[in-house]
Order: sequence, then C-alpha cells, then structure tokens
Amino acid sequence: MKFKKPRGTQDLLGKYMKKWRSVEERVTGVLQRYGYREIRTPIFEMSGLFVRTVGESSDIVTKEMYTFNDKKGRKLTLRPENTAPVMRAYLENGLQRQGGISRFYYMGPMFRYDRPQAGRYRQFHQIGAEAIGLSNPAIDAEIIKLSLDIYKEFGFSSLQVRLNSVGCMKCRGEYMILLREKLAEYKSELCDDCLHRAEINPFRVFDCKTCISVKKKLPIITDYLCGECSEHFEELCVSLEGMSVNYLLDPLLVRGLDYYTKTAYEIIHPELGAQNALCGGGRYDGLASELGGASIPAVGFSAGMERLMQILPDELEGKEVDRPDIYFIVFDDKCSIQAMILADKLRSADFVVYIDFSMRNIKKQLKSASVREYDYVVFIGQKEIEDKEVTLKNMKSGNQVTVSFEKLVSYFSEKGVTGIE
Ligand code: HAM
Repeated sequence: MKFKKPRGTQDLLGKYMKKWRSVEERVTGVLQRYGYREIRTPIFEMSGLFVRTVGESSDIVTKEMYTFNDKKGRKLTLRPENTAPVMRAYLENGLQRQGGISRFYYMGPMFRYDRPQAGRYRQFHQIGAEAIGLSNPAIDAEIIKLSLDIYKEFGFSSLQVRLNSVGCMKCRGEYMILLREKLAEYKSELCDDCLHRAEINPFRVFDCKTCISVKKKLPIITDYLCGECSEHFEELCVSLEGMSVNYLLDPLLVRGLDYYTKTAYEIIHPELGAQNALCGGGRYDGLASELGGASIPAVGFSAGMERLMQILPDELEGKEVDRPDIYFIVFDDKCSIQAMILADKLRSADFVVYIDFSMRNIKKQLKSASVREYDYVVFIGQKEIEDKEVTLKNMKSGNQVTVSFEKLVSYFSEKGVTGIE
C-alpha cells in the first residue's frame, strides 16, 4: 500500500457505520424534539473567523488549526469547531431579523492538529446545538438538559455536569489584574506554554494539563463575578436543581475557547480516561459583536461523536438497528429478475437488501455475506422459483428455514436480528 489514511483520522465502515448512523438519527431526534433545526455551514471558513473568536492565544488557534492558502492567496481554515461558523451564518443571513430565539443543531467533521490518542483524533465529529438570541438563564438550563438528554436516550441517566461561570468582561477587569500578579509570583513553577499564556491571556493557564498545582493556588473567577453574572449563575443553578440535574461546581473549568462568558460546562464520563469530556459548551454573549454584528446573547454545546460511540455497546437496541440486513444469493442469471422483484418488496418495507449478481459459487457468495456482516441470507434458484418459496439462513445461528414468497416481508418484519429461527 502506497497510501495510508492521515494520522489521527478514521475510516468509518461496516457495522460501525450502521451503528453511527443510528446514533446520529437518535441524537437528532432528541434535538428536533426541543425545536432545534439543522444548519450546515462550510467545512472551511476564513481563518480570521476562528482567530477572532476562539482566541489568538488558545491552543486551537496557536497549535491546532489546519490552515492553507487557496489559489487566490486567501487564508482558509478547516473548521476546528462550529460555534463561530453558526454565528457567522446567523449574522450573514440576517436571521436576527426573525427575532426571538433561533435554535440550530449541526453535525459533521471538525479538524484539530492535536496529538492523536484514545478518544482524540485530528478529524473528529461533533453534534452540537446553538440557541441564539436570549440572555435568560432558562435557555442555559435548556441547553444543559438537552445535552444530558442525548446521553439519556442511550440509557446514561446519571452523568455529572461540571459547571462554572467565567463571568463577563466587566468581572474580568479586576480579576485579570490579580491573576497576573499571582502568576508572576509563581513564575518559576510554570511550564513554557504557561509563561507565554501568562503574558498574552492569563485565563488560558487554566487550560494547562501540567501546571495543576499552580492552578489550584490561583484566584478563581467566581469570587469576582459582577452582580449580573452572579445572579445569572444562581438562577441557572436553581433551574438545574429544579430539573434534578446532577452538577458539580468546578471553579477551574474555563474551557479552551476565548468566546465564553458566564456559563461554562462539560459532561464527563468517568471511564473515558484522559479524554473524558463527552461534551462541552457554554454561553458566548460577546461572539456576535466580535464578528461585527450587534450584541446578541447565545449559548450552546457540542458533543463528540467518537466519544459517544465509545461508551455505547457494539449492538444497540432499537428499531433501526434491530432490523436485519438481508443478502440475496442468486444461483444463476435466470433467477435475477425474481430476486429483484422480491428485493423490491422488502425494500418497500424499509429493509436493506443486497443482491449478489456475481453468480459465483454459493460458498463464495456466503463468505461475501459474512464479511459484509449481513444478518440473513436468502437463496434464490430455479427450484425456489418453481416452488414459490425461498430458503433463509440466519447468519448468526446458522439455522435455516423455508418461507413462501408471499410471507417473506412479514417473516422479516416479525423477526428482527435477534429473532433466531
Ligand atoms: P470543545 O470542548 O472544544 O467545544 O469540543 C466539544 C467536544 O468535542 C468535546 O467535549 C469532545 O467530546 C469533542 N472533541 C473535541 N476535540 C476532539 C478531538 N480532537 N477528538 C475527538 N473528540 C473531540 C467546542 O468545540 C465548542 N464549539 C462547544 C460549544 C458549542 N460551545 C458553545 N457552543
């Protein structure tokens, strides 16, 4: 092989891809039930969009962006996240004129040049939601509850939310002066990255995975929240308690993106190891004006698709996944039309049917069905056509039965993958 996939990327295929689709469908079902509508923005954007919003001193911008010049010399970046693009699209399409809250959801690939490891990729996928247009903490509570409901859909009903408020520019004024002073005091204990962060944007020191002991000695933003921010935070906590959301206040959680104001949160899965954040989000009231729009409050989250897939069992329960995929083995050319007629009926009833027209020997066709992970094989030859019945083989149990043409659809409709004959 001369070419391999780029480091940190994955080929999604076979049963894993089927599970992936089913997960996407169920997650988008949850999002749609909350009134969120899909938005698709370009995979690449002008680099400045991310530099301005995610932040010049953030790890994403300084180390992780895939940036290139197009043939006209325009500087473009493969999106490392999708909150700034959604806000750009919202402003560019004049959606603020609709008034009220605009609720969007999206899914798709994101790109970050980070060191690949379990649960961390260079191309990964997010499903996210953004609610634009309201400053009331009720919408922060909705976003947090919605993100929890995604995991609840798959049976995770006791995940914990790590919650903080990172305040607004007003609260940060006095706090930043103090933070700089403290960082100067602990200068000798800081890593090279943090020495730089302390100069440019001291808040980003909290992103560091190595300077943990220093972080614990630093002043925390929640002690310096202005009246409006602390009231917002208190109301959010009351709403979460009202909905019995299990949350833990984490004053060191600032999240690695500069646009956050007030609410910041993450949902952690204890068994995921170092990359244990399933999902993260928060409020970003300054982002619209940073892009040249009016001041528009907004809040959202993104969930990592690969990490969700990781915590789910291989075999999901549910209608779509339980439906068997069917492989037709055709004995000779004369049987093709009958195979297509039967397949047509099954497809009309929403079954996946793969017809093997290769006319290879049965052993080879069976092997092909097995490597492609089909659940049932249906044999179609001259004799079957004469008798108007087919032989089915359940690939998991190896059991075979004969079913009339007429009853084929109802047979599969009643069975499901696990219905072993
Ligand atoms: P983020 O915390 O950078 O936030 O990413 C959100 C989620 O994406 C993470 O919790 C994780 O599950 C997944 N993720 C991030 N990086 C990787 C990676 N390299 N490999 C695999 N999964 C990854 C954002 O992106 C914000 N836009 C979230 C947001 C939306 N805030 C407000 N609205």
